[in-house]
Amino acid sequence: ANMKLLGIETSCDETAAAIVEDGTHIISNVVSSQVDIHARYGGIVPEVASRQHILSIVPVLQQVTTNFEDISGLAVTMGPGLPGSLLVGVNIAKAIAFTHDLPLIGINHLEAHIYANWLERDDPPLFPAIYLIVSGGHTDLVLMEEHGKYTLLGKTRDDAIGEAYDKVARILGLGYPGGPAIETAALQGNPSSYPLPRAWIRNSYDFSFSGLKTAVLHLVDKLGGLDAQSPQTISDIAASFQDAAIEVIATKTVEAAEQHGVSQILLAGGVASNQSLRNAIDCRSSIPVRYPRPEFCTDNAAMVAACGYFNLKAGKTDGWDLDVISGLRLGQ
Ligand code: KG4
Ligand code: ZN
Repeated sequence: ANMKLLGIETSCDETAAAIVEDGTHIISNVVSSQVDIHARYGGIVPEVASRQHILSIVPVLQQVTTNFEDISGLAVTMGPGLPGSLLVGVNIAKAIAFTHDLPLIGINHLEAHIYANWLERDDPPLFPAIYLIVSGGHTDLVLMEEHGKYTLLGKTRDDAIGEAYDKVARILGLGYPGGPAIETAALQGNPSSYPLPRAWIRNSYDFSFSGLKTAVLHLVDKLGGLDAQSPQTISDIAASFQDAAIEVIATKTVEAAEQHGVSQILLAGGVASNQSLRNAIDCRSSIPVRYPRPEFCTDNAAMVAACGYFNLKAGKTDGWDLDVISGLRLGQ
């Protein structure tokens, strides 16, 4: 019999709900973004985010379904993320699960991102896999041996890659969110215009991006400040930054995949929608690379519902004491 899970996601600045059948087929999928609200501040304001989730969650759920009769379980992001934002999702998920007597499944947002690779595809990913999560909060290299079995191989020691994109975009006056803005600007730029540092951190799968971000800041200063720059110079710096960041990520990801003899490389997280990153990994790797459709890379609830399906099948459910864990990690 088909199993439909309702997924809820409120860990950051998207209020999202979705119904997914058997961990793959999307029945409905709604994302309400707060990007316009936070753009005014140049970043996410936690208090503002929580309150916006409170306002959006019921309208978003109403768009997804008004009938819970054929739902088999409630999957909700419990962390990592902003505590006040997570609480909104977990609490409404509890209320729905309680009133409809449904299993409740607390979901690790980092595990959810990977399940975007199962959405709307007939061919499921192959194990073992190297999972690269590149988002606003994380840059993790994870070995995934099977459903639910993760080993953290490397992580960022300072900024996440998405965070670096957002900060560099701010330095370059490109606005928020920075990732898509830098990717677009970089298309017009020459990546070898400015030599920027690559933090290789030898003999480790760890990453570091704060030195790169600082180098961009110093470069703009040296060139006479942001106001003195032509659009072409901005594009050249964006392209040079992107090239430096992506070269390290792509090289380490492919190295990890080869060292562990995996069947596939799976990308996930907001930055996985970046075409230059996809290409850089693709062209270095003889191991097949797989990435979700762009709309499944950024935060959504379909990936949460898909993840919930595989957890529910494995018997992993939670009690009414389910709480949020702001600093939840994966594979350690
Ligand atoms: O996964 P996500 O939606 O939220 C988190 O869980 O963090 O990732 C958001 C991040 C932001 O930092 C955004 O700038 C970045 O993903 N991003 C991109 C692109 N699209 C989104 N970064 C680079 N290139 C893109 N095309
Ligand atoms: Zn995310």
